[in-house]
Amino acid sequence: MCGIVAAAARREVSEILLEGLRRLEYRGYDSAGMALIDNDRHLLLHKKKGKVSELERAQALDPYHGCTGIAHTRWATHGEPSGANSHPHISGQRVALVHNGIIENHSALRAELQGAGYDFASATDSEVVAHLLHRELEAGRSLLEAMRAAVARLEGAYAIAAVDTQHPEEVVGAREGSPLVVGVGIGENFLASDQLALRQVTDRFIYLEEGDLVLISPSTIQILDVDGRPAERSKTRIEAAVESAELGDFDHYMIKEIYEQPRALAATLLCEPDHSISDTAFGERAAAILDRVQTVQIVACGTSYHAGMVARYWLEELAGMPCEVEVASEFRYRKRVQHEGTLLVMISQSGETADTLAALRNRSEGEFIGSLVIANVDNSSLVRESDLVFLTRAGPEIGVASTKAFTTQLVALLMLTIVLGRRRGMTAERERALVGALQSLPDHVQETLMMDPAIEELSGAFIPKRHALFLGRGIHYPIAMEGALKLKEISYIHAEAYPAGELKHGPLALVDEDMPVVAVAPSDDLLEKLKSNLEEVRSRGGQLFVFADIQSGFANEPGITVLPMPHCPEVIKPIIYTVALQLLSYHVALQKGTDVDKPRNLAKSVTVE
Ligand code: F6R
Repeated sequence: MCGIVAAAARREVSEILLEGLRRLEYRGYDSAGMALIDNDRHLLLHKKKGKVSELERAQALDPYHGCTGIAHTRWATHGEPSGANSHPHISGQRVALVHNGIIENHSALRAELQGAGYDFASATDSEVVAHLLHRELEAGRSLLEAMRAAVARLEGAYAIAAVDTQHPEEVVGAREGSPLVVGVGIGENFLASDQLALRQVTDRFIYLEEGDLVLISPSTIQILDVDGRPAERSKTRIEAAVESAELGDFDHYMIKEIYEQPRALAATLLCEPDHSISDTAFGERAAAILDRVQTVQIVACGTSYHAGMVARYWLEELAGMPCEVEVASEFRYRKRVQHEGTLLVMISQSGETADTLAALRNRSEGEFIGSLVIANVDNSSLVRESDLVFLTRAGPEIGVASTKAFTTQLVALLMLTIVLGRRRGMTAERERALVGALQSLPDHVQETLMMDPAIEELSGAFIPKRHALFLGRGIHYPIAMEGALKLKEISYIHAEAYPAGELKHGPLALVDEDMPVVAVAPSDDLLEKLKSNLEEVRSRGGQLFVFADIQSGFANEPGITVLPMPHCPEVIKPIIYTVALQLLSYHVALQKGTDVDKPRNLAKSVTVE
């Protein structure tokens, strides 16, 4: 959510900063800006409402040059998306500053700074930090000491990078509650909110810890810990990703990432030669914690929450393991009573989602026997702070709508079901069958991808619609929820999901010939029940689009369009049906002409509350 890139080098950095912003743009794209210090110690500033391409255009028309600079792409929280509210914020023509996060006490600080004679040019919370830093610098402090004094006044979450014309070779940074990483170069150093922004210039990174301050110059990196003491932080070398963050031959990241699923799923499944799942897939210390698990509490947001809902069916049905699932934004503020022996499981593609992270950080002493995170980003905050970690191997997910991250989370969750199920009497034969089903998954997803032209054809029916209903039963209810979320977030069609049995308790009133109804209808124990629910829709004139395998026995008839799904083992059906629904929302959005990869108002990695 928002992206920061900064550089202190001996070469011109504007193109490095712009490339970094392009790579981070999926995190926020309301406005973008860049500040450079030139050889004459002047502060040069471009800020533009809209996408990074607007900033690039400004730089092309009026090129600024400098070896020290900061840049930002914004997802608006305080203050509308506008040129004035975009970062960097300037103070006294000497300080420029970019900020991710939310400063909760900004109103009080603004009043105090206005009282001290500072004029505000924006409606943002972030501008107060620029003025605070300026005030400390004017008092004669060094850049690092001034930043330390400034952040001591802040309440809330921040990742900050700032430059000062009187320290023209340096960039100062700070983090608390929002990620910031140092990119280590040769004769140049960088800061960014995500290492992805800097992969073009380095593969060596230092992940800052909460409360850290950092000062970089072309040849030095100085870190202070939360108490202001010099701190050593280890360097991590990041291997080249199997999947690049480039678009290649695809038109959009979303469709590229949908098509990457067979490989991503295969890479995520870690199984032993005897077709079992080892406890160590969840970390070296996993067995000791897993042995004590009596019940599981899953916490996540959005699409990751849907993965948790699917997992509850697996854990209870296949592993006999009680499981609760809750959205993190509710869980974190609720007075809770946990059962003894509860494992806290967090699911998060980014590993940085503020609410999910808060659920981990705010747990009370002894509330859980341990924590496990399923994440796609190594070294993310959740990964660093959880007892156990499972990294999905989806590769970078750039499309804001989550696709391959979701399906790889499901693989991880079925693996978790197996290792916990083994402790509750799951036989080796059953385990082998489940692993076999997971091994067959990439092929079945490949087959599902071949439905792309048929789904594209069907998607036309949704273009004139303003609403859609998604129905499923049992484990396919969360899949219907995921289908509805995908459709609404990228095509802006209002879509709701219901467990089909709930229809007659209210939502059936919405059904008429204008309401497309998507049914997730594989042949399973609940199919006959679902069929009666769908009859209720048909008899009210609703237009049904049924995703079903041949055994389900649906046929095209007036009012029913059937999308024939590949036959596959029952346990992996939720994943296969998800892929078909991803394709549906992609094609609807494409035809509606929305920005598929960067839907309005959204951003990847929600690091604010
Ligand atoms: C929807 C989507 C979001 C995320 C949610 C949680 O397509 O991507 O709903 O799933 O913001 O993000 P993570 O998984 O990074 O915690």
